[in-house]
This record gives sequence, C-alpha cells and structure tokens, in this order.
Amino acid sequence: MVRVGTLPFRMVALASGADCCYGPEEIDRKVATWTRTLNSTLKTVDFVNPKSSAVDFRIHSIVEAPSKRNFVFQMGTSDPEWAVKAARVIQHDVSAIDINCGCPKHFSVSGGMGAALLEDPDRLVSILTALVQNFPHLAITCKIRLLPNIPSSIPLFLRLQSTGVRAITVHFRTRYDRPSTKAHWDMVSEILRVARVPVIVNGDIYGWESVQTVKRTLLESLRDERDDAVRKEMLDKINRLSFMPARGAISNPSIFRQIRAYLDASTRSRDIEFETAMLDVDTPRLPPLTPVVDLARLYVRLAAYFEHPGHPPVKYTLGQMVPPHAPRIGKGKPRSPSAGDKENYDSSDRTSAARSGSGSRLGPAWASFDNPVQVQEHEGVLREISGNDAATMTVTSPPPPAPAPATKAAPKETICGLMYPAKSMREVCAAFDDDEWYDRMVEGRQQGQGLHDGGIESAGELVERISQLGERGL
Ligand SMILES: Cc1cc2nc3c(=O)[nH]c(=O)nc-3n(C[C@H](O)[C@H](O)[C@H](O)COP(=O)(O)O)c2cc1C
Repeated sequence: MVRVGTLPFRMVALASGADCCYGPEEIDRKVATWTRTLNSTLKTVDFVNPKSSAVDFRIHSIVEAPSKRNFVFQMGTSDPEWAVKAARVIQHDVSAIDINCGCPKHFSVSGGMGAALLEDPDRLVSILTALVQNFPHLAITCKIRLLPNIPSSIPLFLRLQSTGVRAITVHFRTRYDRPSTKAHWDMVSEILRVARVPVIVNGDIYGWESVQTVKRTLLESLRDERDDAVRKEMLDKINRLSFMPARGAISNPSIFRQIRAYLDASTRSRDIEFETAMLDVDTPRLPPLTPVVDLARLYVRLAAYFEHPGHPPVKYTLGQMVPPHAPRIGKGKPRSPSAGDKENYDSSDRTSAARSGSGSRLGPAWASFDNPVQVQEHEGVLREISGNDAATMTVTSPPPPAPAPATKAAPKETICGLMYPAKSMREVCAAFDDDEWYDRMVEGRQQGQGLHDGGIESAGELVERISQLGERGL
C-alpha cells in the first residue's frame, strides 16, 4: 500500500502473523533508474534514486530474503519493455513481482497503468507474458478489480491466468465503486470456478469474521452442485483460498494472526456439511488482537530505525493506526492497558462497524469507523435517561447521532495530539514516550551497531521476538 507498506510496516505485519506483504506500488520508469546498494549496518538492500540520492525503496535482506517468499514487489506499468527493465533492477532481491491493474487514481489511469490496463487486456497480457518469459525464477502475479460489467470479469480472468502468472488477486470492487461500496463477494465463487491459479480475495476483509462470511457464501453456492467432481474441486479451492486485508490490516495488523488461526482451525475436509460446521470455530480459542497502540509503537521504533528522519509516510501511517483518543503513555512509566483500553484501542470495534456498513470509510481508518468512546458516552446518557443498566436496556430507536465536527483535533495529551505537530522522528517517538529509546538507538547506529533494544542486536531478531509475543506487544 502506497505510503503504508514500507519496510517498518511490513515488519509489523509479518510479526503480527502475515504470511506475505506487498510493497507500495512503484512505477517502472522510476524503478529502472534505481541503483542497488547494500547497507551493512541496517542489513538492508537499498534502491537509491540517482537524481535525489534518496533511498526510494528498502528491503530487509534477512527478514525478507527471497527464499522466505514473504515479500512481493508491486509495480505500476503500462509497457512490457519498461516493466522488464524495471524488473531487472530488483530481480535478485525479491521472489515475486505483482502488476497493479486495479488502481483507479488519475495518476495511474492517465498513464495507461492500474485499472486502465483492464480496458486494454492485450497490453496487460503482453506485460505479464514478457515478465513471465524473462524472469522464470520469479513468481509474476497481478492484482485486478472486477470490470464494470461484472460478468465480463470472467473472460478477463481466464486470459490473464493463461499468461503463466502464479496467482491473481481480485479486489472485488469495480474501478467506479467507492471504497465504501460493499465488495462483491458473490463473485468469488464465479471466479473460483474458472480459476486454475491461486486466487487472493481482496476487498472488505477486516478480520476472521470476513473470511468466515466469504467461505460461508462459497459453501452455500455449492449446495445445489450435483457434479461430485466439481464439488470436490471447489472445496479444494476454497480451502486453499488466500485473503488480502488492506484497511483492516492498517487498523490492526494482528488481524493476520487471527485470520491464520481461523483458517487453520476451519479448514479440515472435503465435505460441505462438515466444512460448514467447521466455520463456527471455537472463537475464544483464536489468539486475541494485540492492542493497536502497541503495534504502532513497534512500528514507530522500526520506522525510526529504518526510515530517514521526517519521512512523511511515517506520520501518515501512524495517523491511520492510532485512534485519536489514545492517551499518551505515562512518561517513563510503562503502563499496562486496562480492559477498557483494550476495548477502545483494538480495531475490533472499528472493524465490526465497518463490516456492518456503518460509518463512511473515506477518511483515515480511525476517523471513519465508529468511535467506541462515543458509543460508550452515548450509552451512558441513555442509562441516565432510562434508569436501566446497560445489560438490560434495549434501545428500539436510538436518537440520530450528533453531526460529527468536520475536523476533530485530537486533544494535546493524546498520542495523535503530540504526534501531528512533531517535526522530527525523535518528536514522533516522544509522542509514544520513546524519545530515550530513540537517542540510544541513534547512538548505537552511529557506532555501527544493529538495532539496540535491551540487548536485541538486529531488527530481524526484534521482529522474531515480537512475533513470539502473545497478546501484548511491547
Ligand atoms: C493507504 C492505501 C494505500 C493503497 N495502496 C495500494 C497499492 O499501492 N497497490 C494496490 O494494489 N492497492 C493499494 N491500495 C488498495 C488496497 O490494496 C485494496 O485493494 C483496497 O483498499 C480494498 O481493500 P480493503 O477493502 O481491505 O481496504 C491502497 C489502499 C489504501 C487504503
């Protein structure tokens, strides 16, 4: 994801249970100019822009080594020759290259890239074929949207899979759908029936419950299937389906761990009845979500280490992750979250609001979902009026919500309130009370040392340690 999917966020996602992460889309003509350098302190492969001398792209050479197959480089292109030129630059540091054929933004489509490619399938096929032929050691994949005439997506899918791509991600919206339009999950079964390559479902995946609904829809679509061979094949495909959350993963990357556990628990057999029963897994046994503030703190540490100071995407990404009301963590006093905190900071409330379609989802993730604090306040008022306690109260027609102020500034003593005016990474770290950590880290780095965090020597080890932590992150 542009601005979000840089190395630090990918590390947080991997540490939170993601099997694989995509980098932000990079444009072929820019990639083709990059110079590859090895950064022995950070243990990264850096791709440097020759004009600005800035590091445009960074891959961790251990955590994201090609042999681990956990990183996909995503490219925007409209031309097979440029795509091949660009792929040559990064081919030894990645295991997969994905072509973005879904971006509806003006910048992409006006250059014939992104969703424009869906309307020029010959060109798209020539790009994918050129990459498949020139880079047999890489998995070439693509990410598409549904076509505006939804059924015509099937012939397009058939053409694309015949190019030799190793997987196709389908964002189950059309380019004209709004981000708030419900993803057309009814089309998953249509695509799956013709698929001969792995399919990755994208659009409205906000947690294990979304995965459950997609799988339920698929199993229901099989109920009237009389052909045993088709049923067997479809069950097999359903069990091998992959899922790509985007906004849900920004809201709380630990949904990956829950989804993985859910898939492991629910995928068992080739029998529809049994599979359907298995969808209702014993949910309390799923690993709990990590409070997103803890993951944001891990992100800010990794960002301070891996990004250059003041890198704009860091504040953008934190703004998406941290709820505006999350209070600053007491200076120098490590603080355990209370049960109330957990309710307030976990993305679960926000994501369930998103699933039910409430809230506009056009702004930052935290601003666009229902605010659980407001919900609690609202309940408190109702309690006072009715004299009931929350457990026995039934609200048949809740009063219309008060119009939200256009821009609600975060109070100064919240993480957001401190972070937004921050002008340096140190100040951003200070919003998380991590300024001392930042100073130690800079000192260690100046001495050519790896990431220092209580004896942790390298970012790879930090990520490994984080991935082993349970409910609480740091
Ligand atoms: C901040 C942000 C950046 C994104 N950047 C990319 C990108 O670089 N490449 C891409 O294919 N899609 C990108 N997308 C689109 C998502 O990958 C995804 O297709 C879309 O958000 C629908 O999934 P969701 O409903 O789970 O959010 C981006 C989305 C967001 C919110």
